[in-house]
Amino acid sequence: MKHLLSLHDWTPEDIKTALELAAKLKKEQKEGIPHHLLKGKTLGMIFTKSSTRTRVSFEVGMYQLGGNALFLSSNDIQLGRGETIHDTAKVLSRFLDGIMIRTFKQSDVEDLAKYGSIPIINGLTDLLHPCQILADLLTIEEHCGTLAGKKVAYVGDGNNIAHSLLYGCAKCGMEIAVATPAEYACDETVVAQAMEDAKLTGAKITITTDAKEAVKDADAVYTDTWVSMGQEDQKAEKVKSFSPYQVNSELFSLAKKDAIFLHCLPAYRGMEVTDEVIDGPNSAVFDEAENRLHAQKAVMVMLMGDQ
Ligand code: CP
Ligand code: NVA
Repeated sequence: MKHLLSLHDWTPEDIKTALELAAKLKKEQKEGIPHHLLKGKTLGMIFTKSSTRTRVSFEVGMYQLGGNALFLSSNDIQLGRGETIHDTAKVLSRFLDGIMIRTFKQSDVEDLAKYGSIPIINGLTDLLHPCQILADLLTIEEHCGTLAGKKVAYVGDGNNIAHSLLYGCAKCGMEIAVATPAEYACDETVVAQAMEDAKLTGAKITITTDAKEAVKDADAVYTDTWVSMGQEDQKAEKVKSFSPYQVNSELFSLAKKDAIFLHCLPAYRGMEVTDEVIDGPNSAVFDEAENRLHAQKAVMVMLMGDQ
C-alpha cells in the first residue's frame, strides 16, 4: 500500500490502521503532545478545482507533523499550460516526499502514481473522494461506536462521495443504502466492485431510488451537493430531479432516534439539506470536517513516514 488513489485498493486492515492512528493523533493534538512524524518532509498539493477543507486540513496537518506543504494551483504550474502528467510526476518526485492532487479525471491521479516514485493521495476526482470518507468513518465510529453492522444511508447524487462511501462501508463490514434518482445513479463498475468488497466483510449494500427506504433505521444519514464541481451547467436540470431526495426533518425522522447527519460540505442549504437538519442536534458535520485533519495526518504518516 503506497498510495491512496481509491479505498477499493486498501484492505480493511489498512483502513482500521488509518482510523486508529487518526484517533491517536487527534488525542495527541488535543493534549498538546507534539508528533513530528514527518519532520523535514514536503507534500505538494496540486489543485485544479476549488477547496477549503482539503487544502487547509492537508496544509495544517503537514505543519502539525513537522513537515511542509506546498500549494500548487494548476493555474500557476506548467501542468495547467499543457506539461504532461508523466513529466510532472517525474519532476515532482525529485523534489517532494508525497503529492496530494484534486482534479477531474481519476486516470490523471492514477497516472501520477504510475509515472512518479512518491506516494500519491487522491484529494477528490469526479469519480472518488477517499480522504473524505476516511474522515466520515472516523466520525461515525466516534458517534456511533464500532463500525461493523452500522447502517449508513446516502441520499442524493450518485457522485464521488457516494462512490467512496460505498467502498469504505463495504470494507468496514457496514450496511449502506444509497438512494439516487434513476438517471443519476452510481457508476456501475464502482457498485460491482463494492459488492465484491462487501462479500469479504459481510457488509450489506442496497441501491435504490427510494430515499425513505434508504433512510429507514439508519445510524447515519449522509447527503452531498446535487451539483458537483464542473457540473454547474447542469444545475437547473439536476435540481428538478432531486427534490424528493432533500434531507429534511421528515425524511431524517425515519432514521434511528439518535442517528447522526453527515455532509462532506460545502452544503447548499434549502437544496440537498434543510437548516433544521444541518443545524439540528443530530448534525455531526463540523466534527466530520475537523476529522479531515486527523484522518489525513494518519494517511500521510502511513504513506510518507519512515518505516
Ligand atoms: N469536503 C471537501 O472536500 O471540502 P473542500 O472542497 O472544501 O475541500
Ligand atoms: N461532490 C462534491 C464534493 C465536494 C467536496 C464535488 O465534487 O463538488
